[in-house]
Amino acid sequence: MKIDAVVFDAYGTLYDVQSVAAVTEEAFPGYGSTITQIWRMKQLEYTWLRSLMQRYESFWDVTRESLKFTLDGLGLQYSEAAFAKIVDKYRWLDLYPDAKEALASLSHLKLAILSNGSQDMLDALVRNTGVDKMLAANISVESKRIFKPSPAAYDLIEENIGVKPANVLFVSSNGFDACGGKSYGLNVAWIERVSVAALHKEVRDPKTIGPVTLFKAMRMRMEALSLDPDFRIGSLAELPALIGRRN
Ligand code: LAC
Repeated sequence: MKIDAVVFDAYGTLYDVQSVAAVTEEAFPGYGSTITQIWRMKQLEYTWLRSLMQRYESFWDVTRESLKFTLDGLGLQYSEAAFAKIVDKYRWLDLYPDAKEALASLSHLKLAILSNGSQDMLDALVRNTGVDKMLAANISVESKRIFKPSPAAYDLIEENIGVKPANVLFVSSNGFDACGGKSYGLNVAWIERVSVAALHKEVRDPKTIGPVTLFKAMRMRMEALSLDPDFRIGSLAELPALIGRRN
């Protein structure tokens, strides 16, 4: 396998979606963790629902719809300004601590993002975090009006950077996205940020299972869809060595 390009998922892979917890907790003390987990789970569910119904709305709108669902379901009151402040965090999410160093050490390859995010929110995010100059392309699924894991979304990689799927390493920590990339024909590295052993330890006492653990069990493990990734890595920092060994 000759890797010419490394393409990253954005939310959950380069950017920590859990970093919204500070703003959700500030807005609704005591509820931050619950809001954060329901919001992210619903956000992805809405992308799948909208894709299946062929009723695409931008990821910005989906992010707002899923936050509204979450807050209304928990019976929390909010002003439009408070709501806007929470959603705005999606333009300023924290990078994982090893993200920039990993990107810098792969600079001899074509680097890109392929994300469900709308173009304006992705552009703001990479600019705000100083990643824009490290990327050959910042690709939103927007032009296809469908979300990952639709094959049409992954088509955008070759269309934008001209590298064939067989020569792309697609990196995602989202199990559904890793499966989607594998199903499409990309080489896939799945980031296993929560090991099975760590999760099993965390759930040993069922009485202590809270929203974060539930999220880890639901959304941070590989899906049982028989579409196993080519590589399982613990963090972005492992990428340079992995690619070095293959090329
Ligand atoms: C993205 C979602 C999968 O960035 O998190 O596309």
